[in-house]
Amino acid sequence: MKRKLHLSRRVESVLASPIRKFLPLALAAEQRGIEVLRVNVGDSDIPVPKVFWRALRSFRDRNIGYAPSPGIPQHTRAWVKYYATLGVKLRPQDIIPTVGCAEAMLFALLGVADPGDEVLVFEPVYPSYKGFAAMLGIRLVPVTLSVENNFALPPAATIAKKITRKTRAIVVINPNNPTGAVLTKQETARIIQLAKKYHLFIIADETYREIVFQGKPTSFLQSKSAREHVIALDSMSKKFSCPGVRIGAIVSRNAEVMRNVLRVAMVRLSAPTLEQWATIPLLEHAATHARSIAREYQRRRQVVYSALKKMPGVTVRQPAGALYIIAALPIANTEDFVKFLLTEFHYRGKTALVTPAADFYITPGLGRNQIRIAYVLNAARLRQVMEVLERGLQAYRQKYGTA
Ligand SMILES: Cc1ncc(COP(=O)(O)O)c(C=O)c1O
Repeated sequence: MKRKLHLSRRVESVLASPIRKFLPLALAAEQRGIEVLRVNVGDSDIPVPKVFWRALRSFRDRNIGYAPSPGIPQHTRAWVKYYATLGVKLRPQDIIPTVGCAEAMLFALLGVADPGDEVLVFEPVYPSYKGFAAMLGIRLVPVTLSVENNFALPPAATIAKKITRKTRAIVVINPNNPTGAVLTKQETARIIQLAKKYHLFIIADETYREIVFQGKPTSFLQSKSAREHVIALDSMSKKFSCPGVRIGAIVSRNAEVMRNVLRVAMVRLSAPTLEQWATIPLLEHAATHARSIAREYQRRRQVVYSALKKMPGVTVRQPAGALYIIAALPIANTEDFVKFLLTEFHYRGKTALVTPAADFYITPGLGRNQIRIAYVLNAARLRQVMEVLERGLQAYRQKYGTA
């Protein structure tokens, strides 16, 4: 009998990244000589602050050994100092450096939920949560937010309806990818109150903490009353514009959580040694570096938002943070529109790669008329993106109507 090689069903249930699935079409367009303006991933053209390179060059050890699983002590202490500037007092054991926020997310989900458990999320949601949950057998329960309402959270009672005996945690991404929304004080208080009332963890993904266009950066860790509940996920990727450095952190003052997380961290050995060293000076002057990066995103947001607002039939709200915007277009299926832009359209030799938003949703059928734009190009290039989009949308509607 011929036996077949079997692959895991667990991984087959994981969606291909919505952000990367149009790459082959983009490459084909480029081979035809068309310039593809890429605003589909949060990979920015803003350079990493110079102190990083200086620190990297100053690494003198001839070996690059494993870092300790709980982090290189000097690096972890730099995180402690950074958090102190936010008014959050931590001990080194409250922090474990990770391979980006992505690994922190995996550690948090592994640390608090078993297969069959439920975790509440607000949709649209950053898709890696869906991927990790599928791999871990965790059910994500969505609370749906709307672009018309600027992705504001519903009242506590509406959220509470989704909580069951199996719910272990609420995920909040603040500032948000993909929506660009920033929680108000009242919304933050609502989440804390729900977590306490129903004994849930708050998994606070604060990857974009410093990229806010009004007010100061905040953290759920600042809440004194929810100390045991909060697990913050952090990252250098966006605040210091260095996603390829792959350094993030998981932070909690709940010692039992951190004990669990450390076990997982030991299994995977360590976060990268060189990068932990080289990012210490970034953390030591985090506010200065992150502020100038945030200002640049604010300028870019204006270009994108004001252009979208003028486009007939487009629904959009002004994002308050992060580097993304969601727009609802006057067509039924933005996946077809994105394919059209890459295969049938260009304006003066240029086209654009944006992300259709349906895969940011968990509820089937939602978000099919929406796109997400990551404003990762400079203002002049973003103006070109917006021109391509406006003309592309006109051409698409002339050809296909509102399909
Ligand atoms: C909300 C959110 N969480 C986590 C990540 C992953 O970040 P990292 O590069 O630190 O792994 C991203 C990246 O875009 C993100 O948008």
